[in-house]
Amino acid sequence: MKRAAVFVFVACCVVSALSLAEDKKNSKPPTTMELQIRLATLKANGTFIVQPNKTKADGFCEEMKANLTLVFKEGFITFMFNKSADGTGYVNALFFTLAYPLSKDRSAYSANNNSLHLFPAKAGHSYSCKKESLYMGNGLWLDVDRDRMQAFNVSKNHEFGISDFCPADQPDYRVAIGVGVTLLVLIVIVVVAYMLSRRRRSDGYQSL
Ligand SMILES: *[C@@H]1O[C@H](CO)[C@@H](O)[C@H](O)[C@H]1NC(C)=O
Ligand SMILES: *[C@@H]1O[C@H](CO)[C@@H](O)[C@H](O)[C@H]1NC(C)=O
Ligand SMILES: *[C@@H]1O[C@H](CO)[C@@H](O)[C@H](O)[C@H]1NC(C)=O
Ligand SMILES: *[C@@H]1O[C@H](CO)[C@@H](O)[C@H](O)[C@H]1NC(C)=O
Ligand SMILES: *[C@@H]1O[C@H](CO)[C@@H](O)[C@H](O)[C@H]1NC(C)=O
Ligand SMILES: *[C@@H]1O[C@H](CO)[C@@H](O)[C@H](O)[C@H]1NC(C)=O
Repeated sequence: MKRAAVFVFVACCVVSALSLAEDKKNSKPPTTMELQIRLATLKANGTFIVQPNKTKADGFCEEMKANLTLVFKEGFITFMFNKSADGTGYVNALFFTLAYPLSKDRSAYSANNNSLHLFPAKAGHSYSCKKESLYMGNGLWLDVDRDRMQAFNVSKNHEFGISDFCPADQPDYRVAIGVGVTLLVLIVIVVVAYMLSRRRRSDGYQSL
């Protein structure tokens, strides 16, 4: 059963963002993206959580770029996607403005970075990440939880392509490989030691 995402947006672009509908047939919790703007400085801490049912998606899609703007009463967040030569889609610019008091002395915030390389997904794939925090300067963070997004080569029925996981979610083979190599080395040492001791005996030496 297909989930109804709130922000299924313009023909070629999809974001799983903030979906409300539940996958009733499988009674699984919905895959929802949670977005929050957070201020964290020595002087003040504050959080604004984007409310899915009070947010609209706007923007545009082109062959090589896409704009996804989430608009809510207190401001907006824009994700600009670009496509690299090999077809990988990624966010190259991120903007937000927020008119909401995150601290006692300030109630308006904005952030702007257009030299980013975030959320990469190969052609026809989707980007998937359980949790990440993006620093936007001036003590401001954008926290993105349970993210799944895809801006290009989206299928006609708006289903996500294969997931390209963020580094934190990729299975870590290093530990397994490390343990395997250590075991192999131990086995080789034992076998060599055994052979040496046998040879010594057969050479007529007494073993210690
Ligand atoms: C904000 O949080 C940080 C870390 O959690 C803490 O070091 C700092 O003192 C906090 N600031 C205020 C004003 O509570
Ligand atoms: C939005 O959803 C929250 C819970 O997710 C609910 O408490 C609130 O009433 C809803 N607001 C509107 C306008 O539907
Ligand atoms: C992205 O789309 C929003 C909403 O349509 C628009 O206000 C904004 O100017 C666009 N930004 C860019 C960089 O294209
Ligand atoms: C978008 O990607 C193209 C490569 O496909 C690159 O030449 C261009 O500089 C990028 N644009 C931005 C704004 O990063
Ligand atoms: C934008 O983000 C990049 C990568 O996190 C960082 O290196 C750069 O300094 C930021 N630019 C601005 C203007 O904050
Ligand atoms: C993605 O879409 C572009 C045109 O929008 C097309 O040229 C390309 O072949 C597609 N790639 C895949 C892997 O479907």
